[in-house]
Amino acid sequence: MRPVSGGVAGGMVFDKHRDFIAELLTRYPVKRSAILPLLNLAQREEGCVSQAAMREIADLLDLTPPQVFETATFYTMLSLKPRGTFHVQVCRSLMCALVGADDLLAWLRAHLEPGADGATADGRFTISTVECLGSCATGPMMQINDDYYEQLTRDKVGRIVNDLKQTGDCALKSGPFMMPERK
Ligand code: FES
Repeated sequence: MRPVSGGVAGGMVFDKHRDFIAELLTRYPVKRSAILPLLNLAQREEGCVSQAAMREIADLLDLTPPQVFETATFYTMLSLKPRGTFHVQVCRSLMCALVGADDLLAWLRAHLEPGADGATADGRFTISTVECLGSCATGPMMQINDDYYEQLTRDKVGRIVNDLKQTGDCALKSGPFMMPERK
């Protein structure tokens, strides 16, 4: 593996992000703490976390590939296999379950007919269930790619799916999750 700027090793997956990675590593007193931002970068760059990316991250952070694998397989926002264009993550935790998450999930599955891996045949949607996304007061809710959709009903979910199919976007999104500001 050839050296890159700032003495940081780089490889095929991260080649064009060498400067960003060099800067990223300066933010952490312990190199291994950069594992999540690097896994997130791999996910966004390739649509999944490939074995090549995991090997590169291990090299960069002086970890073993199994240590990187353990982390990559723990978080639902990361995937070892490519996902559909729209990753639909339906919260299945208690507060959302109490207000109808199961019904919406069943509706989604009946209408999009994903395979056993959660992906639709056209590659547009992958449906996953995830644990609490921190938006319990506005359930049932789901996250699609980076955006939250809250206080869902069947009608809203139908409109969201149709809008995403037709335009790639939907005005019903609340946007990315933001921590409430402290007053
Ligand atoms: S239980 Fe669904 S967001 Fe918390």
